[in-house]
Amino acid sequence: MKADVFPRVPHAVPAAHHAHPHESAHLHVSGAATYVDDIRELAGTAHAALGLSAKAHARIVSIDLDAVRAVPGVIGVLTAADIPGSNDCGPIIHDDPILADGVVHYIGQPVFAVIADSHDTARRAVRKARIEYDPLPAVLDPLEAKRQERFVVPPMRLVRGEPAARLAAAPRRLKGSWKVGGQEQFYLEGQISYAAPKEDGCIHLWCSTQHPTEMQLVVSHALALASNQVVVEMRRMGGAFGGKESQSALFASVAAVAAWKFGRPVKLRPDRDDDMMITGKRHDFHYDYEVGFDDEGRILAVCIEMTARAGFSADLSGPVGTRAICHFDNAYFLSDADIRALCARTNTQSNTAFRGFGGPQGAVAIEYIMDSIARAVGRDPLDVRKLNFYGGEGRNTTPYGQTVADNVIHELVGELEAESGYRARRAAIAAFNAASPVLKKGLALTPVKFGISFNVAHYNQAGALVHIYTDGSVLVNHGGAEMGQGLNTKVCQVVANELGISLGRVRATAADTSKVANTSATAASTGADLNGKAAEDAARRIRLRLAELAASSHGEGIDPATVRFADDHVFVGDHAIPFGELVQQAYVARVQLWSDGFYATPGLNWDRSKLTGRPFYYYAYGAAVSEVLVDTLTGEWRLLRADLLHDAGNSINPAIDAGQVEGGFIQGMGWLTMEELWWNKEGRLMTHAPSTYKIPATHDCPPEFRVRLFRNRNREDTILGSKAVGEPPLLLSFSALLAIRDAIAAVGDGRIDPPLRAPATPEAILDAVDAVRAQFSAAPAAARSDVAAEALA
Ligand code: MTE
Ligand code: MOS
Repeated sequence: MKADVFPRVPHAVPAAHHAHPHESAHLHVSGAATYVDDIRELAGTAHAALGLSAKAHARIVSIDLDAVRAVPGVIGVLTAADIPGSNDCGPIIHDDPILADGVVHYIGQPVFAVIADSHDTARRAVRKARIEYDPLPAVLDPLEAKRQERFVVPPMRLVRGEPAARLAAAPRRLKGSWKVGGQEQFYLEGQISYAAPKEDGCIHLWCSTQHPTEMQLVVSHALALASNQVVVEMRRMGGAFGGKESQSALFASVAAVAAWKFGRPVKLRPDRDDDMMITGKRHDFHYDYEVGFDDEGRILAVCIEMTARAGFSADLSGPVGTRAICHFDNAYFLSDADIRALCARTNTQSNTAFRGFGGPQGAVAIEYIMDSIARAVGRDPLDVRKLNFYGGEGRNTTPYGQTVADNVIHELVGELEAESGYRARRAAIAAFNAASPVLKKGLALTPVKFGISFNVAHYNQAGALVHIYTDGSVLVNHGGAEMGQGLNTKVCQVVANELGISLGRVRATAADTSKVANTSATAASTGADLNGKAAEDAARRIRLRLAELAASSHGEGIDPATVRFADDHVFVGDHAIPFGELVQQAYVARVQLWSDGFYATPGLNWDRSKLTGRPFYYYAYGAAVSEVLVDTLTGEWRLLRADLLHDAGNSINPAIDAGQVEGGFIQGMGWLTMEELWWNKEGRLMTHAPSTYKIPATHDCPPEFRVRLFRNRNREDTILGSKAVGEPPLLLSFSALLAIRDAIAAVGDGRIDPPLRAPATPEAILDAVDAVRAQFSAAPAAARSDVAAEALA
């Protein structure tokens, strides 16, 4: 074996707990990484385009596709009637038609597909369709849907203690409403599926999806096939962020049905505008709340009703609502709470998973309320937050009944407060604001506690396959989906660590339903936790076999348990055998050099009807300080500095984890401050391209961006003691929103609560500035400080 066969990482760098580049970084940056649209097309490949509904709610009277068929290059069309199996691609409740059948439910809903010899022809031909509609009443506003009791799943409610009575008895109360907008996933690689018919009615599907197994199921149902007739392969996605957990299904189904019907490979790649018109986004939330507290700001009781825009169908809205309920507490002990979630059915895109999956929408509400309480009692919001943290006698159980056993929020926030210079900067900002009538600075420190595991216990399982070839190179396949988050890198690190070999020997392959079966979505941040453990299990099984061989062939009576695997060698007694050599010996000795592995997260239980149990294996923690400068005349603002401290446990790869923390923070900041979804009166989404929908760019990153991982080993037996890091850091961005709110409060005397909706666009900021000004000049000086906290009684 040549010495330079495994050149990527020097032997000296241990595989685990060190910064290694993303396994595909060299391919990403050189443009050589193969995404679905880069796969060399098979001969005879046809291209599909979707015809979309022009009405928010209507009966389809007729579909005339003659002019479409007449376009040169058009091979054929598909409507609901062409689907041989079930016309449904809903993940839980089966209310998601692949192609509209009889009724359309939102503007953008796919009604038919055109298959043509080129992508361009298909897109042009789509426009020749003539569809006649008979309009039905459309509900576009979630609150109107609530009034009409139109919900996609039954309302959910979690009550602990006696919130009503404690609220009535509380010395101080606040009541309010608030709203937070939705968010487009804006994956750089859009939705795409490429289906090829195979012998005997089988289908091979390349699909940009977080959930290959679900795509296999959906396609097999649409085509009335058995699961063993459909193979789904997924090497990598150019981003997903939850948007390809369930919603890749429609594209997968159309491509597969077209491939089946026309007997040729079919690719479906909607352009960005169609992608945004068709697919669901993060749920926007409306909140109605009432909170009771004491003079120090300690919460005594809280009631909240969260109304989420589910869109026209259920999709994942039920679990999103559940996660919102389970994260409303964030880092705070709420002794008496009434937490409700409503999933309102509207005639808009069916909203879906987006990084945090309802968790951010739940937790941001209590942070907004916490700020209001601080202004009401006239204390620094950080002090009010600390007062309410989990911890201390009888203050460690969540409203849903799980004990918070791994709380590090006090230490973590303490460290961040000190190293960010929070108190000194608070004083400096007050001085700046006193001297600056137009430009105002604001500061906020917000904590995060985020539960890790799927709420549905049985999703928390994973499988893997590890192969060692006779040259000592290793191939790992697992059920997880690489979307840029570095999952494959971490899994390779785990395998290398387990076998004591350098990372350069290990390669990960595409997720493939014909290799590891019955996989869960790569979601809920569990990718590395689940698949890492499964791969470790597989590698361990081979290692034990190798250890036995080494022990038996290199010394009398050596206990295989004493055989060590490290530095690309196997140490047996006094011998050090190169790893590759032992592998050769194992092959000759007919020892199995590959293995499967499996993992199921222990200790989970969840009662869906009572919304109680232990849904999470553990919690990830974090905190952030943001400092902003707001122009109170234009509503423009800048993030001047952000300090992030995040708990990734004993990080498997600190470089990748730091990237997740930075990316999550900036993405969350985009959600809360600049990304705005806007539907017109007809229900047409007008912000369906980057020209009208603004996501954060590099210049929105703060000039001072200090990111650090908190030193903490997971107390649960997770993969190498690490913690999931995919979603929790998104919640660090609350600090940016609340720093803006803090700056706006400086327009008054700091005690008037700015009613700042999110996203805090310049328009929203100016509205809040106006509201504070109006209240400040209206209130007599003596009464001002109590305006915001006005007792309701
Ligand atoms: N990071 C990148 N680069 N791209 C993505 O699409 N998705 C996020 C997060 N980080 C995403 C990402 C979401 S929504 C989840 S649930 C996790 O990654 C999933 O991966 P993991 O479980 O392996 O962390
Ligand atoms: Mo992530 S929203 O769980 O895909």
